[in-house]
Amino acid sequence: MASSVSPTQSPVELKKLFSREQISRRVAELGAEISRDFAGQPVILLGVLKGATIFLSDLARHISLDATFDFIAVSSYGKDTKTSGEVRLTKDIDQSIEGKNVILVEDILDTGLTLTYLKRAIEARRPRALRIAALLDKPARRIQAVHCDYIGFEIPDEFVVGYGMDLGERYRNLPDICILPPELQRLPE
Ligand code: IMP
Ligand code: MG
Repeated sequence: MASSVSPTQSPVELKKLFSREQISRRVAELGAEISRDFAGQPVILLGVLKGATIFLSDLARHISLDATFDFIAVSSYGKDTKTSGEVRLTKDIDQSIEGKNVILVEDILDTGLTLTYLKRAIEARRPRALRIAALLDKPARRIQAVHCDYIGFEIPDEFVVGYGMDLGERYRNLPDICILPPELQRLPE
Protein backbone atom coordinates (compact mmCIF):
# COMPACT_ATOMS: atom_id res chain seq x y z
CA MET A 1 0.00 0.00 0.00
CA ALA A 2 1.46 3.36 -1.00
CA SER A 3 1.87 5.98 1.68
CA SER A 4 3.17 9.52 1.46
CA VAL A 5 4.37 9.68 5.08
CA SER A 6 7.25 7.51 6.22
CA PRO A 7 6.87 6.36 9.84
CA THR A 8 10.61 6.86 10.27
CA GLN A 9 10.51 10.54 9.36
CA SER A 10 10.38 13.16 12.05
CA PRO A 11 7.29 15.38 11.93
CA VAL A 12 9.71 18.33 12.10
CA GLU A 13 12.91 18.97 10.17
CA LEU A 14 15.85 18.15 12.45
CA LYS A 15 19.51 18.80 11.74
CA LYS A 16 21.42 15.59 11.03
CA LEU A 17 24.57 15.05 13.03
CA PHE A 18 25.34 11.60 11.55
CA SER A 19 23.54 10.07 8.60
CA ARG A 20 22.45 6.44 8.52
CA GLU A 21 25.29 5.75 6.06
CA GLN A 22 27.93 7.24 8.37
CA ILE A 23 26.51 5.32 11.34
CA SER A 24 26.44 2.08 9.37
CA ARG A 25 30.10 2.41 8.32
CA ARG A 26 31.29 3.19 11.83
CA VAL A 27 29.24 0.41 13.44
CA ALA A 28 30.76 -2.07 10.95
CA GLU A 29 34.25 -0.91 11.98
CA LEU A 30 33.44 -1.36 15.67
CA GLY A 31 32.07 -4.85 15.00
CA ALA A 32 35.24 -5.81 13.13
CA GLU A 33 37.38 -4.49 15.97
CA ILE A 34 35.43 -6.48 18.58
CA SER A 35 35.63 -9.60 16.39
CA ARG A 36 39.43 -9.26 16.23
CA ASP A 37 39.83 -8.54 19.95
CA PHE A 38 37.79 -11.58 21.00
CA ALA A 39 38.75 -13.91 18.15
CA GLY A 40 37.79 -17.52 18.92
CA GLN A 41 35.90 -16.61 22.11
CA PRO A 42 32.19 -16.31 22.91
CA VAL A 43 30.82 -12.92 23.99
CA ILE A 44 27.67 -11.64 25.69
CA LEU A 45 26.41 -8.38 24.25
CA LEU A 46 24.76 -6.65 27.19
CA GLY A 47 22.58 -3.79 25.96
CA VAL A 48 21.40 -0.93 28.13
CA LEU A 49 17.65 -0.51 27.54
CA LYS A 50 16.18 1.13 25.64
CA GLY A 51 18.53 3.53 23.88
CA ALA A 52 21.16 0.96 22.89
CA THR A 53 18.81 -1.54 21.23
CA ILE A 54 19.23 -0.33 17.66
CA PHE A 55 23.00 0.07 18.03
CA LEU A 56 23.22 -3.43 19.54
CA SER A 57 21.20 -5.06 16.80
CA ASP A 58 23.32 -3.47 14.06
CA LEU A 59 26.61 -4.05 15.88
CA ALA A 60 25.78 -7.72 16.54
CA ARG A 61 25.47 -8.35 12.80
CA HIS A 62 29.05 -7.18 12.32
CA ILE A 63 30.44 -9.42 15.06
CA SER A 64 31.68 -12.72 13.66
CA LEU A 65 31.84 -14.53 16.99
CA ASP A 66 29.63 -16.81 19.05
CA ALA A 67 27.52 -13.99 20.52
CA THR A 68 24.47 -13.92 22.79
CA PHE A 69 22.33 -10.99 23.89
CA ASP A 70 21.19 -9.80 27.27
CA PHE A 71 19.71 -6.53 28.48
CA ILE A 72 19.87 -4.39 31.57
CA ALA A 73 17.88 -1.26 32.39
CA VAL A 74 18.63 1.71 34.59
CA SER A 75 16.66 4.79 35.44
CA SER A 76 18.43 7.82 34.05
CA TYR A 77 16.79 11.08 33.04
CA GLY A 78 13.17 10.11 33.31
CA LYS A 79 11.45 12.41 30.86
CA ASP A 80 13.90 15.27 31.22
CA THR A 81 17.04 16.09 29.24
CA LYS A 82 19.21 16.59 32.35
CA THR A 83 20.43 13.78 34.56
CA SER A 84 19.05 13.51 38.10
CA GLY A 85 22.49 12.34 39.20
CA GLU A 86 20.96 9.20 40.63
CA VAL A 87 21.21 5.83 38.89
CA ARG A 88 19.02 2.86 39.78
CA LEU A 89 18.86 -0.65 38.29
CA THR A 90 15.33 -1.31 37.01
CA LYS A 91 15.99 -4.56 35.10
CA ASP A 92 18.78 -6.98 35.91
CA ILE A 93 20.67 -9.43 33.68
CA ASP A 94 18.84 -12.73 33.06
CA GLN A 95 21.87 -15.03 33.41
CA SER A 96 25.09 -15.57 35.32
CA ILE A 97 27.98 -13.74 33.67
CA GLU A 98 30.67 -15.16 35.90
CA GLY A 99 33.69 -16.15 33.82
CA LYS A 100 32.12 -14.80 30.60
CA ASN A 101 33.22 -12.09 28.18
CA VAL A 102 30.79 -9.21 28.48
CA ILE A 103 30.52 -6.25 26.15
CA LEU A 104 28.34 -3.59 27.67
CA VAL A 105 26.60 -1.77 24.83
CA GLU A 106 25.40 1.79 25.52
CA ASP A 107 24.00 4.52 23.28
CA ILE A 108 25.72 7.56 24.73
CA LEU A 109 28.31 8.38 27.35
CA ASP A 110 27.34 11.75 28.79
CA THR A 111 28.06 12.60 32.45
CA GLY A 112 29.48 9.09 32.93
CA LEU A 113 27.27 8.37 35.96
CA THR A 114 25.32 5.55 34.31
CA LEU A 115 28.33 3.69 32.97
CA THR A 116 30.31 4.12 36.20
CA TYR A 117 27.40 2.60 38.10
CA LEU A 118 26.89 -0.23 35.62
CA LYS A 119 30.58 -1.04 35.36
CA ARG A 120 30.78 -1.49 39.13
CA ALA A 121 27.59 -3.57 39.26
CA ILE A 122 28.77 -5.86 36.44
CA GLU A 123 32.33 -6.24 37.72
CA ALA A 124 30.90 -7.45 41.04
CA ARG A 125 29.55 -10.49 39.14
CA ARG A 126 33.09 -11.51 38.13
CA PRO A 127 33.00 -11.65 34.32
CA ARG A 128 36.14 -12.91 32.59
CA ALA A 129 36.41 -9.63 30.71
CA LEU A 130 34.27 -6.50 30.62
CA ARG A 131 34.50 -4.09 27.71
CA ILE A 132 32.34 -1.06 27.04
CA ALA A 133 31.05 -0.02 23.62
CA ALA A 134 29.33 3.38 23.41
CA LEU A 135 28.06 4.70 20.11
CA LEU A 136 28.45 8.35 21.15
CA ASP A 137 30.70 10.18 23.57
CA LYS A 138 29.80 13.69 24.79
CA PRO A 139 32.98 14.56 26.75
CA ALA A 140 31.97 18.17 27.52
CA ARG A 141 29.48 17.02 30.15
CA ARG A 142 31.56 14.42 31.93
CA ILE A 143 31.26 14.32 35.73
CA GLN A 144 32.85 10.90 36.25
CA ALA A 145 35.68 9.61 34.07
CA VAL A 146 34.85 6.27 32.43
CA HIS A 147 37.08 4.31 30.09
CA CYS A 148 35.27 3.09 26.98
CA ASP A 149 36.94 0.49 24.80
CA TYR A 150 34.90 1.11 21.66
CA ILE A 151 33.50 4.54 20.77
CA GLY A 152 31.56 5.32 17.62
CA PHE A 153 31.75 9.11 17.50
CA GLU A 154 32.64 11.98 19.77
CA ILE A 155 29.93 14.66 19.73
CA PRO A 156 29.60 18.29 20.88
CA ASP A 157 27.39 19.32 23.80
CA GLU A 158 24.05 18.96 22.02
CA PHE A 159 20.99 16.88 22.83
CA VAL A 160 20.68 14.19 20.19
CA VAL A 161 17.87 11.84 19.20
CA GLY A 162 17.34 9.02 16.72
CA TYR A 163 18.95 5.63 16.11
CA GLY A 164 17.52 4.47 19.46
CA MET A 165 17.94 7.70 21.39
CA ASP A 166 14.92 9.56 22.69
CA LEU A 167 13.38 12.50 24.40
CA GLY A 168 10.53 11.24 26.57
CA GLU A 169 10.40 8.02 24.45
CA ARG A 170 9.98 9.89 21.14
CA TYR A 171 12.28 9.98 18.11
CA ARG A 172 13.93 6.58 18.76
CA ASN A 173 12.91 5.36 15.29
CA LEU A 174 14.66 8.11 13.33
CA PRO A 175 17.27 6.36 11.17
CA ASP A 176 19.78 9.22 11.46
CA ILE A 177 21.25 10.80 14.59
CA CYS A 178 19.81 14.33 14.81
CA ILE A 179 20.24 17.37 17.02
CA LEU A 180 17.16 18.32 19.00
CA PRO A 181 17.14 22.12 19.35
CA PRO A 182 16.35 23.63 22.78
CA GLU A 183 12.86 24.79 21.69
CA LEU A 184 11.91 21.14 21.06
CA GLN A 185 13.39 19.84 24.31
CA ARG A 186 10.39 20.87 26.43
CA LEU A 187 8.06 18.03 27.28
CA PRO A 188 4.39 18.24 28.19
CA GLU A 189 3.91 17.93 31.98
P1 IMP B 1 25.07 9.67 31.74
O1 IMP B 1 24.80 8.87 32.98
O2 IMP B 1 24.91 11.13 31.98
O3 IMP B 1 26.39 9.34 31.07
O4 IMP B 1 23.87 9.41 30.79
C1 IMP B 1 23.78 8.40 29.96
C2 IMP B 1 22.35 8.26 29.47
O5 IMP B 1 21.69 9.51 29.31
C3 IMP B 1 22.38 7.66 28.11
O6 IMP B 1 22.26 6.28 28.21
C4 IMP B 1 21.17 8.26 27.44
O7 IMP B 1 20.05 7.45 27.66
C5 IMP B 1 20.96 9.57 28.12
N1 IMP B 1 21.44 10.70 27.30
C6 IMP B 1 22.52 11.47 27.50
N2 IMP B 1 22.67 12.40 26.54
C7 IMP B 1 21.64 12.20 25.70
C8 IMP B 1 21.24 12.84 24.47
O8 IMP B 1 21.87 13.78 23.95
N3 IMP B 1 20.13 12.34 23.90
C9 IMP B 1 19.41 11.30 24.40
N4 IMP B 1 19.75 10.68 25.53
C10 IMP B 1 20.86 11.13 26.18
MG1 MG C 1 20.41 5.17 27.92
